[in-house]
Amino acid sequence: MTTPETLSCWLSNTKLFPELDFDRFNMRIATDRYTSAAFQQHERDAIWTRVWQVVGRVDELPETGDWKEYRLFDQSYVIVRGADGVLRGFVNSCRHRGNKLCEGKGQARKFTCPYHLWSYGLDGRLLSVARPDLVGPLDKAEHGLLQVPVDSFAGFIFLNPDPDAAPLADCLGPEVVELLAPYRLDEMTPVGLNVRESLDCNWKVVIDAFSEGYHIVGVHPELLKVIVLEAGKNRFGFFGDHGVACAPFEVNVAGFGPEQQVEGIRELPVTFPSVAEVLPRFEQLVAAHRSADGALQFPDGVTARTLLQQATRDTLTAKGLDVSALSDDQMSDNQGWFLFPNFFMTIRAGEATVIMSTPHPDGDPNRCVWQVTSYIWLPEALRSQLRAPLVEVEQPGSFPYFLALQQDYEQMPRQQKGLRNQALTHLSLAREEVCIARFHGVVDRYLAGPA
Ligand code: FES
Ligand SMILES: [Fe+2]
Repeated sequence: MTTPETLSCWLSNTKLFPELDFDRFNMRIATDRYTSAAFQQHERDAIWTRVWQVVGRVDELPETGDWKEYRLFDQSYVIVRGADGVLRGFVNSCRHRGNKLCEGKGQARKFTCPYHLWSYGLDGRLLSVARPDLVGPLDKAEHGLLQVPVDSFAGFIFLNPDPDAAPLADCLGPEVVELLAPYRLDEMTPVGLNVRESLDCNWKVVIDAFSEGYHIVGVHPELLKVIVLEAGKNRFGFFGDHGVACAPFEVNVAGFGPEQQVEGIRELPVTFPSVAEVLPRFEQLVAAHRSADGALQFPDGVTARTLLQQATRDTLTAKGLDVSALSDDQMSDNQGWFLFPNFFMTIRAGEATVIMSTPHPDGDPNRCVWQVTSYIWLPEALRSQLRAPLVEVEQPGSFPYFLALQQDYEQMPRQQKGLRNQALTHLSLAREEVCIARFHGVVDRYLAGPA
């Protein structure tokens, strides 16, 4: 089977859980960072207004003049595709008397402020003003929209509110760019799940919840069948502010014979619907190991896991996705990527689920907005046909998340309620939750200000 050298290298260069130096991590987290308005204000100034953050997908704005608004606390930006095909970001304020230019998303040849009809090109230049006789002398070059950096990576649009920000590629770092490239995320499309909803918890409660596997024992016991929660097997790679955690995915019951392993794979679609697509090929591969009397025996080195990996590789290749640069582990294992400050993604060959949380625009530290999107690689001809539009949930509890996500959705506000009790000053992390410690360490570094 294929195991591209660079990828097997990087994976074995990450640290196994027992190899981590826990003295480097602060495993006690103060609770007021989830509840205090002053703390959130500090985060706003030191983090949110200075970091690259995902604001959408490149294919949301395919045509010249396609635009969307991005809200961050009480700030508003507009991202628009120019006539030259370039995506640009602007502060969503008219340069006359500051009126908000636009809201939501749309298509425009130019932006005209509804207040006194000043209009701006898609490149932000001030094109014209109404009734110049009433305006008097005006240097148009001085009155273009205020621009903020916008760039893209892996099909995601990133914006940085800081006009002097370092380039996105520098902030992501070469490892993140190189390790994610073979998945072809830029060719993936939201399919099935694409939801945004306000949650009654701090934005970091969401990041924390998706940064550890420990809560599987309490919240998702059904996942214990397929996710190996063994400290000795989990790997961690930390790259700059970002990182990845990998836990092997297998039908994990000690002493399972071939038939039981195969049965376990057949049950996977209940929790991981996309596995259904590879099952026909999986069954073919399994059948090849049956003797004339029907008995199933795997030779050394073959398990239901390796057959699942081969079936995934064959199925995706037949669909038209070139997976030759992905390792066998990447066929079966969901790797959990975190891009600071608020982008979490599980990814394996052919699919990804992205979870983002942002502070609530109303500024309450006890609330946030989360967005959950499932991406699948599809041949180009099918992408627009199957693309799931974003669903904005207004009525809490009304959206039917799949089981594991519903469990998280219900859990997170419960944690926030506990965190609000003032007598509780600190929470204590388990070692398995080291990614939470690392995330908060990065938060602290930003809050401390430039070195
Ligand atoms: S505030 Fe926009 S034209 Fe006056
Ligand atoms: Fe969870």
